[in-house]
Amino acid sequence: MHHCTPSLVTTREELASLLNETSRPRVLVPTMGALHRGHAALLETGRQLAGDGGTLVASIFVNPTQFGPGEDFDAYPRSLEADLETCAAAGVDVVFCPTREEIYPTGLSTTSVSEASLSQGLCGASRPGHFDGVCTVVLKLLNLIAPDTAIFGKKDYQQLAVLRRMVADLDVPVKIVGAETVRQSDGLALSSRNTYLTPDQRTQATALRRGLLAAHALHRAGDPTASDLVDRVRATLATDAPDARVDYLELVDCGSLAPIAPASPIPDHALIAAAVFFGKTRLIDNIELDR
Ligand code: PAJ
Repeated sequence: MHHCTPSLVTTREELASLLNETSRPRVLVPTMGALHRGHAALLETGRQLAGDGGTLVASIFVNPTQFGPGEDFDAYPRSLEADLETCAAAGVDVVFCPTREEIYPTGLSTTSVSEASLSQGLCGASRPGHFDGVCTVVLKLLNLIAPDTAIFGKKDYQQLAVLRRMVADLDVPVKIVGAETVRQSDGLALSSRNTYLTPDQRTQATALRRGLLAAHALHRAGDPTASDLVDRVRATLATDAPDARVDYLELVDCGSLAPIAPASPIPDHALIAAAVFFGKTRLIDNIELDR
């Protein structure tokens, strides 16, 4: 068991010299902090993959380049003390918590990684530049930390797909592992942004998962079209979340994230992906359609 306090490092020099002393396998869980049970689950998976002898690294960095103008970069919750306790409890060995200057020493980098296919729809369509910011910072973290394995959550399904593609396309020597979404008991996916919700919005937000589950049930029961499933989710939102505003709600192929035509039957390996605003708070969720 690992009960020691993790080593906290803030500069790339400290990180490099500390990592020099550690053994492999080295597993990385990148985060933006404000850690919740979803992050904790990733860290626990990381601890298992690293084993007793290996090294579990968590990074905490609220990456400015993945936030658009008018998004919540300044308001994004920051809770380093509590995060360090979460890391300690999960058996993290090293926490890398760099400043903005440490990651972007020359201001914002003028070189960036841009994935041109999987990142275009869904969140990429409503958040221009978001995945460029994500890919660039994750590649930098992979270069600085050189993990054998890096873990990402399926809550951010598109992010996971885009990053898998990036490491494949650029021959980054790391194995990417996807982790299941952790939820509240009422189904709401844990997210650092849930803290923005008013009590009423918080109640309404449960409709998203209920709608996705209802669509999943419809799929299992018969042969709906893509638009039947989308309509099913919309119906739940309309009755249970009158203040919800749908950003996108789409059926896509799990691998390519290409949209499935509305009139088309549901192929194997389909995903319903959604982003819904409750007030100014934008929440995402998804469900894989299996039978
Ligand atoms: P962040 O939103 O902090 O999420 C860090 C990791 O936790 C991501 O891989 C995300 O998918 C996962 N995660 C979030 N909520 C989860 C939940 N309810 N269940 C399971 N996993 C969950 O995603 C980012 O940060 C950033 O984009 C990052 C990859 C760190 C790059 O800046």
